[in-house]
Amino acid sequence: MSHFSGVARVPGDPILGLIDAYRSDPNPQKLDLGVGVYKDPQGNTPILNSVKIAERYLVDSETSKSYIGGHGDPLFTQHLARLVMGADSALLNENRAGATQTPGGTGALRLAGDFIRYCLPGRGIWLSDPTWPIHETLFAAAGLKVSHYPYVDADNRLVFDAMLAALRQIPAGDVVLLHACCHNPSGFDLSQTQWRQVLEVVRERELLPLIDFAYQGFAEGLEADAWAVRLFAAELPEVLITSSCSKNFGLYRERTGALVVTCASADKLVDVRSQLAAIARNLWSTPPAHGAAVVAQILADESLKLVWQEEVQAMRVRIAQLRQGLLTALQPYGLAERFAHIGSQRGMFSYTGLSAEQVKRLRDEHSIYMVSTGRANVAGMDEQRLEYLAAAIAKVSA
Ligand code: LMR
Repeated sequence: MSHFSGVARVPGDPILGLIDAYRSDPNPQKLDLGVGVYKDPQGNTPILNSVKIAERYLVDSETSKSYIGGHGDPLFTQHLARLVMGADSALLNENRAGATQTPGGTGALRLAGDFIRYCLPGRGIWLSDPTWPIHETLFAAAGLKVSHYPYVDADNRLVFDAMLAALRQIPAGDVVLLHACCHNPSGFDLSQTQWRQVLEVVRERELLPLIDFAYQGFAEGLEADAWAVRLFAAELPEVLITSSCSKNFGLYRERTGALVVTCASADKLVDVRSQLAAIARNLWSTPPAHGAAVVAQILADESLKLVWQEEVQAMRVRIAQLRQGLLTALQPYGLAERFAHIGSQRGMFSYTGLSAEQVKRLRDEHSIYMVSTGRANVAGMDEQRLEYLAAAIAKVSA
């Protein structure tokens, strides 16, 4: 008898699958606009200088590889929480907010999902349509009922009124997932006025916000990007925030992130954190140490922090330039207006508006890889290849 005979094959991950497909493409012209990683003009995903300096220091100074505890490295969680909530955060000063270290932002999302499932039974979660595909599967895997509110329509436009109307219909107590900035996959972000309107609905409907903050520093800057997170944390009694160090520290494979929770009282935070540690014990026991030690080292050292801040700024500025550069390259084809949204979207990603069929042609005929939904990783483009990309887009758009 075969125990595994009934195990069916499932399709590969829609994003990670592109890494293998790209690797095995022999075309020297190939361009990877799939998974969300930053690439330098040579097409490499570099290790940040600040990270290298911190790592060198750690190699010499680390004295142990023992476990770091359920909530992770205290130096990391203290500094990361300040990065997210602000250096002078009243919530942190009053012990009403705290961070639990997780394996990446994905780990933080799963920890939040399990927390909701076990500690807030019966609450559903509402995701933007579209959203990062792993939001869909991760919360379902955590046993939550997943529903959607509209965000981008078939004409590739942010539909804020429809979003707000849908949020008003969500049952009280349910969880609403919001993207703090650099919406993945669309790149369309809310204005401050729109955020305030969402806040009012969340308050009126007594919803619990879960804010995914995976791209701090990639929209307008490290502080500016935290605006909505800090607004919600200041105005509402309880907020869940998932933070990732994958992009802004370039620590993708080191799986470094945190779940930040705010509570109405310091005492309640202790209760909540006891649950988080217990849940995390069943998920990954204790989190991986290296990436967190690197981040702690950088954030604790003012001069190293400055090096890092400049590196984040350089990535952000270059991505914005690549957006404009692509529009310029599309101009000779009369396509700059049709793709003008690429210039106003923010962060790594752009919902280009290209169809699945066009994306397939880009891949089959030009070795240009992007997610079938038409999401392109702008941070994967390079200045020398924008004309190649524009010509290919023009061909498949004709
Ligand atoms: C992406 O959306 O490409 C990134 O967040 C990487 C991932 O894990 O999917």
